[in-house]
Amino acid sequence: MTQPLVYVLNGPNINLLGTREPGIYGHETLADINARLEEQAKTLGLTIKTLQSNHEGTLVDWLHEAQAEGAKAVILNAAAYTHTSVALLDATKAITVPVIEVHLSNPHKREEFRHKSYIGMAALGTIAGFGAQSYALALQAAAAL
Ligand code: DQA
Repeated sequence: MTQPLVYVLNGPNINLLGTREPGIYGHETLADINARLEEQAKTLGLTIKTLQSNHEGTLVDWLHEAQAEGAKAVILNAAAYTHTSVALLDATKAITVPVIEVHLSNPHKREEFRHKSYIGMAALGTIAGFGAQSYALALQAAAAL
């Protein structure tokens, strides 16, 4: 029997975690976070596909792919595109796979331009402000769907 599949998508600059503004985003790299998620996925009986791109259209394509592959959920940290991307909003609406929005930081405690989330308008829910732990909480939420 195949295990449910969860896509974990990360947007621009998330590839620089570890060295990027560590006071905000912490010292862990994306590879560290993904390795921990792989371990957690095993215990939850899930298969995860972890992807990162600095390009908006690529993230749109991966949302479509998640649908085509029959994914159970998508965990999406769209990073700065969260606050700008109607294309990612439309893609989130265009698929029936539930999207869980994730942020390491709490955008509501930061600059005003980060208070608006296009993803949040269509996401099933949002987990933000728990650092790398935000991803673990999102995977737990995905498993429970
Ligand atoms: C972020 C928050 C965004 O405002 C920012 O542009 C990011 C990362 C987070 O995970 O806290 O790149 O999505």
